[in-house]
Amino acid sequence: MYPFFFRAVLSRLDPEFAHHAGMLVIRVLGVWPFAPITRAIAKPHPSLATRALGLTFDSPFGVAAGFDKNVLGVRGLGALGFGHVEAGTVTAIAQEGNPKPRLFRLVADRAVINRMGFNNGGAEAAAPRLERLRRRRPRTIVGINIGKSRAVDVADATSDYVRSATLLAPLADYLAVNVSSPNTPGLRGLQAIETLAPLLEAVRDAAGSTPMLVKIAPDLPDDEVKAIAQLAVQLGLAGLIATNTTISREGLVTDAAAVEAAGAGGLSGAPLKRRSLEVLRLVRAVVPEEFCVISVGGVETADDVRERLDAGATLVQGYTAFLYRGPLWARQINRGLAAAGRR
Ligand code: FNR
Repeated sequence: MYPFFFRAVLSRLDPEFAHHAGMLVIRVLGVWPFAPITRAIAKPHPSLATRALGLTFDSPFGVAAGFDKNVLGVRGLGALGFGHVEAGTVTAIAQEGNPKPRLFRLVADRAVINRMGFNNGGAEAAAPRLERLRRRRPRTIVGINIGKSRAVDVADATSDYVRSATLLAPLADYLAVNVSSPNTPGLRGLQAIETLAPLLEAVRDAAGSTPMLVKIAPDLPDDEVKAIAQLAVQLGLAGLIATNTTISREGLVTDAAAVEAAGAGGLSGAPLKRRSLEVLRLVRAVVPEEFCVISVGGVETADDVRERLDAGATLVQGYTAFLYRGPLWARQINRGLAAAGRR
């Protein structure tokens, strides 16, 4: 979707630098006089309006967590046609994340590997930004995704999550509890049912009336996926987000040495598509219809989004294909969805 010239330039830039440059443009598109123009170009067709979590989303398609870690680009992303933005992951304590380089393109696979490590300004910096967004019109629906601070021991994770939830949940449209990123030591271990149940219960109580969802990894065995989905229903959560990035490197066409050189981290994009869809189906089979399932992983086209909706997703998110397809990606998906709806 990028003109060739931009594609050639962007693919030569350091991926994290390119992301920051893109984010700057997105922030500009969110303010006057650019916002109304962008919105006029990218507004989703009214037929795409979707009810979920007690809200009406302009489109079922939104931005996944990690793109806007510090709640800075919500208005621009909304203007570009995304039906919601999941901001974060935010941690209670501000942190720098892992040393650079920590983001790698696998162009031949339309994928990336990242080990960002929750680089973010912390919950206290995010709170006033969420607060300001609540007063802006038109409003973009914003979820806040929270994770464990690296400096906090895994054994003390609950109080750390509760701190973020208490501060941020009242200011967001939904709260996502991230226990599935591969780049914080010990984090994914929190998905074990006996650890997860008390954690989710405590965070749910801190979240108050804000709908809460849990975000899971694609690398869990099928029976654990189902058990977590059932636990989420049992605890009265509003929904589940599936999936985060994978630690698997299976089925890649990129040269093995290049994959090896990128090193540890979560893989996202096209290679995640099959497992993400599989996990969606596993979850949907064991949860009631009103339970919100957000499907994310390897979505690139309107047909991919449609496939997720048909498989029982309430909402769909994407991240990696945004890097490859450019700023009009959401518009392209929304147009494809609306056109298919008319056929
Ligand atoms: C992510 N993702 C992510 N997820 C999360 O819950 N918290 C986070 O901070 C991040 N950070 C992050 C950074 C980068 C660079 C990428 C590529 C991804 C995971 C993301 O939300 C999503 O679950 C996966 O990327 C799968 O979707 P896509 O990218 O295949 O559409």
